[in-house]
Amino acid sequence: MSKLRGKVAIVTGGASGMGRATAMRFVADGAKVVVADLNEKNGAETVSVAEGQGHGEDIAFVRCDVAREADVAAVVAEAERRFGRLDIAYLNAGVGGAFGPIAETSVEDWDYTFAVLTRSVFLGMKHASLAMKKHGDGGVILVTASIAGLVGGGGSHAYSAAKAAVISLIENVAAELGPDRIRVVGIAPGVISTPLVHRGRPEKYEKQFGQQPWPDRGQPEHIADVAAFLCSDDARFITGETIKVDGGLLAQGIALWGTGADNTFMKSAGVNRGTTGEAMVVRTLQPGARKT
Ligand SMILES: NC(=O)c1ccc[n+]([C@@H]2O[C@H](COP(=O)([O-])OP(=O)(O)OC[C@H]3O[C@@H](n4cnc5c(N)ncnc54)[C@H](O)[C@@H]3O)[C@@H](O)[C@H]2O)c1
Repeated sequence: MSKLRGKVAIVTGGASGMGRATAMRFVADGAKVVVADLNEKNGAETVSVAEGQGHGEDIAFVRCDVAREADVAAVVAEAERRFGRLDIAYLNAGVGGAFGPIAETSVEDWDYTFAVLTRSVFLGMKHASLAMKKHGDGGVILVTASIAGLVGGGGSHAYSAAKAAVISLIENVAAELGPDRIRVVGIAPGVISTPLVHRGRPEKYEKQFGQQPWPDRGQPEHIADVAAFLCSDDARFITGETIKVDGGLLAQGIALWGTGADNTFMKSAGVNRGTTGEAMVVRTLQPGARKT
């Protein structure tokens, strides 16, 4: 595959999880990638994984705190210095941030959460768009949001609010940058098996992983595949959109009537004619017949 041949990308949070998987996918698709992350050890590991796959020349690591404007500007400058330009900015770095009851949340922890998850996206959009406007060929700014930013109950108060804010930024900035052919898009992952979630112990999170309708556990590569699509010309008419990549978790909704085979509406079939005075028709289904 060479859908990103000639493109230069930065990937924040590329030292781990979905950022690393996407950096690997981008170089495999022909892009040059600058990985930007606070974690130098894992950053070096990402580079050596790429080297092992024959892409050592196509990747570089820069230590960066995405909440600091000077660091973000330096990452963009490094992409231009090393690879000549910037076409794709994947703003993905993140942490769990503040958690706990609202009355127990400190201002410092709240501000830290918004600095890493939201201010970082503003800074990335600002400096990436400046670099893209310089060459005038447009570009793509992709952001990792979260389903926690789309509905209640998906994360802590601060995390959910910070992710909701970036979904709004994606829409608003897409409208501004459309005339410059700079697309602004987002991915809202569901539960993805990364070190952020499981900290090396995926078995502890079986309940969260098991709640989605799709049987496979979400993996960083599921996100990387969608990121590669959104950053390619195949998605050239998509902007301002945040795509859920969640194995149907949100499609299932509030599941008032149960989930899967335990959903009340899956146990029988028929028609409810309400309070019309006409009888309800109900057929009980045999368990084996439910799928038809
Ligand atoms: N894993 C999930 O289930 C899930 C679901 C929805 C959204 N997300 C989001 O996906 C993104 C990637 O998370 P992941 O699951 O791959 O986690 P991860 O911990 O594996 O990777 C996140 C990376 O971001 C880096 N990072 C954190 N703070 C930083 C900072 N201030 N400056 C630079 N780098 C920093 C970390 O060092 C790490 O390498 C995050 O934005 C996260 O909120 C994750």
